[in-house]
Amino acid sequence: MTHVADVRDSWSTRTGFILAAIGSAVGLGNMWRFSYVAAEGGGAAFVLLYLLFVAVIGIPLMASELVVGRMTQVSPVRALAKLGGRAWTPLGLLFVFCGLGILSYYSVIAGWTIRYAVDGFRGAIPSDAGDAGAYFNAVGTKLPAVGTHLIFMALTILIVLGGIKKGLERTAIILMPLLFLLLVGLAIWAVTLDGGGAGYAYYLKPQLGELLDPTIITSAAGQAFFSLSLGMGALMTYASYLRSKENLAREAATIALTDFGVAFVAGLFVFPIIFHFDLGGVIGLGDPIADNTVGTLFISIPPALGSLGTMGDLVVGAFFVMLFFAAITSAISLLEVVVTAVIDGWHWSRNKATLVFGILITLLGIPSAFNLNFLAFADKLIGNVLLMVGGLFTAILVGYRIRPQAEDEMAQGLTSPGARRAWVVLVRYVAPPVLILVLVFSIPDLITKFKTLIGI
Ligand code: PHE
Repeated sequence: MTHVADVRDSWSTRTGFILAAIGSAVGLGNMWRFSYVAAEGGGAAFVLLYLLFVAVIGIPLMASELVVGRMTQVSPVRALAKLGGRAWTPLGLLFVFCGLGILSYYSVIAGWTIRYAVDGFRGAIPSDAGDAGAYFNAVGTKLPAVGTHLIFMALTILIVLGGIKKGLERTAIILMPLLFLLLVGLAIWAVTLDGGGAGYAYYLKPQLGELLDPTIITSAAGQAFFSLSLGMGALMTYASYLRSKENLAREAATIALTDFGVAFVAGLFVFPIIFHFDLGGVIGLGDPIADNTVGTLFISIPPALGSLGTMGDLVVGAFFVMLFFAAITSAISLLEVVVTAVIDGWHWSRNKATLVFGILITLLGIPSAFNLNFLAFADKLIGNVLLMVGGLFTAILVGYRIRPQAEDEMAQGLTSPGARRAWVVLVRYVAPPVLILVLVFSIPDLITKFKTLIGI
């Protein structure tokens, strides 16, 4: 009988792994979420706080996930039980739940990007702001949204069926360079807009008072988790297919900083547009469009650009193609968490695991296609709060329960004892208290979203 470990797939090159991990991190979060959260959170103040969270909590926790994945070579559900004992199985199951839950609504939004890319190139998105809202309601909800959600899920399932090397790695190697090219091209194009200077200023000059605002602090922390794919075992799963003994702290820093770079450059595209077309009021705090989380990217920007004629149509099309690439390379990592757990835990074949759970997720996404408040609530609860809960317990596991083993594994590539010490300090003493605080802060917002959902 062949041992499972002998036949387990793996990444073929380090670059393949890094690009796939960056592909997981760089997603709708960088473009759709980052720009609207940054706009709500006072622009530069938010960006600064965000960077702080990435550096102090994001990178150390990402390194922790990578360590656990590589040292166990199994799915997070089994890895956590193996390292921490049975009491840690629920954390692994929480990861799988987050994978199912996030992908279900993520795919609905990703479906919109397909529709907008096609209609953008065709110049079929109305350029009048009022009509653009109606257009969004027509294509972004109900059956049309279910349709594009189905297409997106089908593509995601197809890639995951191909496995690590032939599915995930190959996709990342092709799509990520294209994404970088499109992004840089769009940001350069945005420089040519007059009046964009005020946009850069808003984006880059912090209002210091806002740095201490608890709402902004929580949204920056939540955004860091979502954007870095942390707290639900996505990178843990990816690292479980890693054989080489690279320096995992360096890998984590590369992934996280590239992810930040992409979100930052996306902002250099979005903010000049907001100011050039004077869309500031539309995305302002308290505005219903901003609150329903889709405003900036899907309702205000496309018609504004569309008013520029053919060039504008091309830019809109290219922008949504880029969003689509970003989304699919993240979606496959969400599905892979679930699929790897089922393959390693129940010994199902990859085909069966991918099809059964891919279809289940597709069904779970239907409520989000019909009700945007449901989508917003799921995003807040799962994409924000539960990821931080997952991150908190990961920090406790790695920082306390298995610290010596984790440090040994880290030492495989990170040879400097001082750097390892710093990592341990951040995981043990900084991440847990900060995350507990942020979680407490995030309760009111969660309640507000829940009230909106049930209509009180
Ligand atoms: N990081 C992805 C994004 O920014 C979303 C994601 C979250 C992917 C969690 C995997 C795990 O869009």
